[in-house]
Amino acid sequence: MTAEELRHLYFDFFIGKDHTLIQGASLIPSEDSTILYTPAGMQPLVPYLLGEKHPAGKKLVNVQKCIRTGDIELVGDSSHLTFFEMLGNWSLGDYFKRESITWSFEFLTSGKWLGFRPQQLHVTVFGGDDQVPPDEEAAALWEEVGISRDRIYFLGRDDNWWGPTGNTGPCGPDTEMFIDTGKPSCTPACRPGCGCGKYFEIWNDVFMEYRRTADGRYVPLEQKNVDTGMGVARTVAMMNDRSTIYDIPQFQPLFGFLKKLSGLGPAPDGQALRSMRIISDHVRTATHILGDDQGIPPSNLDRGYVLRRLIRLAVRHGRKLGIDEPFTHRLAELVIDVESPVHEELARNRRFILDELSMEESRFEKTLQSGLREFEKLLPNLMKNPAKTIPGRIAFRLYDTYGFPVEFTAELASEHGMTVDMEGYGKSFDRHRELSRQGGEQKFKGGLADNSEMVTMLHTATHLLHQALREILGDRVEQKGSNITEKRLRFDFSHPEKMTDEEIVLVEKRVNEVIEADLPVECAETSLENALEEGAIGLFRNKYGDKVKTYRIGDFSIEICGGPHVTRTGELGRFRIVKEMSSSRGVRRIRAVLE
Ligand code: ALA
Repeated sequence: MTAEELRHLYFDFFIGKDHTLIQGASLIPSEDSTILYTPAGMQPLVPYLLGEKHPAGKKLVNVQKCIRTGDIELVGDSSHLTFFEMLGNWSLGDYFKRESITWSFEFLTSGKWLGFRPQQLHVTVFGGDDQVPPDEEAAALWEEVGISRDRIYFLGRDDNWWGPTGNTGPCGPDTEMFIDTGKPSCTPACRPGCGCGKYFEIWNDVFMEYRRTADGRYVPLEQKNVDTGMGVARTVAMMNDRSTIYDIPQFQPLFGFLKKLSGLGPAPDGQALRSMRIISDHVRTATHILGDDQGIPPSNLDRGYVLRRLIRLAVRHGRKLGIDEPFTHRLAELVIDVESPVHEELARNRRFILDELSMEESRFEKTLQSGLREFEKLLPNLMKNPAKTIPGRIAFRLYDTYGFPVEFTAELASEHGMTVDMEGYGKSFDRHRELSRQGGEQKFKGGLADNSEMVTMLHTATHLLHQALREILGDRVEQKGSNITEKRLRFDFSHPEKMTDEEIVLVEKRVNEVIEADLPVECAETSLENALEEGAIGLFRNKYGDKVKTYRIGDFSIEICGGPHVTRTGELGRFRIVKEMSSSRGVRRIRAVLE
């Protein structure tokens, strides 16, 4: 079976169950998103999972391109990729557990569809904790369709819960489906979820029936949804009786090319095989990122940084295989040839993909050269060290300043009879990572956008902006309107003329000062009179009744407002004004973001 055949079967099956086929979204979420790359099929559908009406109805089916680098160190094993496609069937407040489980079972086991033997199928369900009970309902439904109890496993939140951990948003227990590959168990305790490869996860049905609140409670959602994800490469591998995702047809031309270029024989050893897999995965992911119509190039920031890292890791593994000529663009050509019949954007952006890969590879080459020169400069001093070790901080500086990978330093060191203090290197590295926790990596790993949380943050930022404008432009500034999405705030206020560039900078600076001061945000209820007496600003033409809520931000601002807000300004990150323009006569409009 090919990926293409699987996609068609899946679509046909769910269209037959009244689902509407919709297009997958871009890999790159729309501008201003806190998410770097789409990590799951549910991501682009979050507004609809929270209740917005989807134009195509309540039952949808699609395939979504996804990127996850959270498990990047596992790439090269039997089941992990950084780029993958996920098939999904969706209920937006329509069907729930019964249909979802019955249909999953039918699609997996019916001879008309995938035809796995029911005995090969093992499932996990949520085992419950102090907040949400075990999912007995899902287990009972699995039993009803024919999975015996000994093949149903109750696991904890790490395994069987989908949603933004530590964040707010839609979430719920899930049930995961595994194929027993027939390999022997690694230990008597081996079960689905074990990393040994005996049980191969191919599908996940999430019962999105909760919303996690800012204070960590799980509140039932008004609309119960089903979000599912079937891994295309994983399922194709299982359908073809292969034990790894790298054995699917798509990867074979890439391996053929790498073997030829590196001079590896037909049966490379474990290390070389792993490098080939990593190179193929990373170049394929880079090709899909560059192939997206948004044209993201490699850089040192956020999306571009993830891309840069993937390309450079691929080049390093190429070196390990003995490839010392530029090759990523040639590999990308194969990816484009194999995958453009389904992903036509790859063909459309072919030139951009190939050019960017070539340029990045040559930039990396230069980086390596300058790292090498620096190493040679340091060498005479390093040689004097009687312990013959290169201090970790020096290895880290070579990496951090010159992009010189530590294993290259170690290799050079060994040529001179020295070693690298890897522990010290690890410490410097961790310290650095600690400092850049807010960086793109972190954001990416988080995976899920947290729309409602972002809105809350932007709401608090609006109060800061309002007060800062009054400080800089004068007390005549009054709020005329406000509109917040999960990406940006928009604030309209009375002011007779265009703001100067200097004023914009001052306002931005003032807001960021207040954010950095990490002031507490406190809510109180009082009478309108009292609030006005305290100097509260805000729109209060609506009838508030006797009591009003005020939000006080340190001694910087007090506003009448319904909330919600963050608890401290330090949570807001950096505030940036994107645009200042006219709204109507005498009213200006600001668009701003938190980054
Ligand atoms: N959102 C679920 C997943 O990605 C289906 O596994």
